Amino acid sequence: MQDMQSLKEEVLQKLAEAKTLKEVNELKVLYMSKKGPVNSLNMMLKDLEGEEKKNFGKNLNELKVCLEENFKEKITKLEQEEIDKKLKAESIDITLPATKIKHGAPNILEKIIEEVESVFMSMGYDVVDGPEIEEDHYNFELLNIPKGHPARDAQDTFYVKDEDYLLRSQTSPVQARVMLSSGGDKPIRMICPGKTYRRDADDATHSHQFMQIEGLLVDKNVSLSDLKGTFDVIAKHLFGEDCETRFRPSYYQFTEPSVETDISCFACKGKGCSLCKNTGWITVSGAGIVHPNVLRNCGYDPEVWTGFAFGFGAERLAMLKYGINDIRTFYQTDLREVENFDRREEE
Ligand code: DAH
Repeated sequence: MQDMQSLKEEVLQKLAEAKTLKEVNELKVLYMSKKGPVNSLNMMLKDLEGEEKKNFGKNLNELKVCLEENFKEKITKLEQEEIDKKLKAESIDITLPATKIKHGAPNILEKIIEEVESVFMSMGYDVVDGPEIEEDHYNFELLNIPKGHPARDAQDTFYVKDEDYLLRSQTSPVQARVMLSSGGDKPIRMICPGKTYRRDADDATHSHQFMQIEGLLVDKNVSLSDLKGTFDVIAKHLFGEDCETRFRPSYYQFTEPSVETDISCFACKGKGCSLCKNTGWITVSGAGIVHPNVLRNCGYDPEVWTGFAFGFGAERLAMLKYGINDIRTFYQTDLREVENFDRREEE
């Protein structure tokens, strides 16, 4: 009995001193395994008899239960401490400043095109596409510009094969393509943004590759005032509610009458400045009423159908809207410029 008491004290003492799970497990092996002292006491049981055996057995059992409970308790405690320690070590300091993630920015031309697309789509227009390598037939002939016509000279064209194929010098051939595929018997509302090419020497205002946004509406009884109303909507959307618009007479082979469309100068509010060359107005597109020859060439009866068409220069719109004074900026792939546009828009 004496042994049991001192064994119990010894184990509890050592358990109390143990600091790690490893130490506790070692103690457990030392005292509770088959070769340990508890089991030795168990072995003594068989040499005892009667009351003595009963008492010894009872006490030994109590000792075993007590030790096992103490081991279990200590192990649970140490395991919990270990988890707490781990959680503490892995905790994230949310007050630390985060590393800034650099985000990309859409190309400014893409942005202006998307803006124009969304306004026209809200008015029921489709956005269509056309080939950049185009046939002379679509780029010129169907648009009322026959071979040898002086109007061709204005568009210094890149020919790619026998003068029959070319890099389109304008997006207007897409008008012809859409009319021809529409069968001549239904109304059309479409815009076509896309790349165009001309044999121009690159400088601040010219680029051998640039983007146009072509538009075409074909229906019955379409007039110049419909074009004016449509142009007004887009101008106000892009340049603000106080933007005014006007038409000036012009000449294009594929429209009659033809106009240049102007917006009031947003920089000087019409007073006159260097941006508007002291006129108070800035030209943003060519436009007009679709020429009867073009309608006829493309399968629409001009006695029944009428339409208007327009062509914006996308770079010009972006240059005006974002105050960019060199068209080459768009094609220099300098990321700092793109970021700059992005910032300018946020301001
Ligand atoms: N295609 C013309 C150009 O490149 C722009 C243009 C003018 C398009 C009048 C049109 C239009 O559709 O009606 O200069």
